[in-house]
Amino acid sequence: MDLLNISQSRYTTKAYDSSKKIPQEKFEKLLESLRLAPSSINIQPWHFFVIETDEAKQRIAKALVGKYVYNAPKVLESSHTILFCTHKDITDSHLDQLLNQDEISGRFKDDQAKQAQKDTRLGYVDYYRNEKGDIQRWSENQTFIALGQTLFAAGLEGIDATPIGGFDEKIIAEELNLDAKGLIPSVLLALGYRSEKDFNAKLPKSRLNADQVFTRL
Ligand SMILES: Cc1cc2nc3c(=O)[nH]c(=O)nc-3n(C[C@H](O)[C@H](O)[C@H](O)COP(=O)(O)O)c2cc1C
Repeated sequence: MDLLNISQSRYTTKAYDSSKKIPQEKFEKLLESLRLAPSSINIQPWHFFVIETDEAKQRIAKALVGKYVYNAPKVLESSHTILFCTHKDITDSHLDQLLNQDEISGRFKDDQAKQAQKDTRLGYVDYYRNEKGDIQRWSENQTFIALGQTLFAAGLEGIDATPIGGFDEKIIAEELNLDAKGLIPSVLLALGYRSEKDFNAKLPKSRLNADQVFTRL
């Protein structure tokens, strides 16, 4: 499948066939693609919970109640679900971890290059925290880039997917003790294979026209 085939054929799956599991190797490939997602200044302000067992799915479904109950079967019938979380703040220890990893990965030719990377990151973090005044929003934007990449990767691998923003944030945060971990829940992603009963598989894709969304300067 090429770029446009995938963009046209991937869609938000509304009902899964729970008997169909994503082969482990394929799923691990998807996680690796997720780990490699890009982010501003390589800040990687995320953490992902991988949900595979029935017990884990039931825990997530606790947050799919009330007005979100329509999303519960998607998680419960999925093969795997991923909860995308975002760091509440960018801590010094996170910045140290990143710099350390950059060094291990061999990105610095000398101490000066390492210091320059440190200063650049700190400068941007300071800008988003103090000048723009909403570092959490900036951080969460990065998490959604990872979501977009994973949606496309799933399409490429022939895996059906459902991004799920409709869940009770408070319940999920309590269930997974997110606050103590310095995390906020951003979005769920159910993955698996569609059920024959999925009404959405038969509906045409709907998007605004090119002239409505592009301005060629
Ligand atoms: C961040 C985000 C949150 C979403 N939340 C939900 C949701 O809670 N439940 C659901 O059924 N679909 C959800 N969707 C799916 C969108 O409705 C869907 O992507 C959109 O209608 C475009 O359709 P397509 O994905 O089939 O091309 C979400 C999509 C995104 C990107």
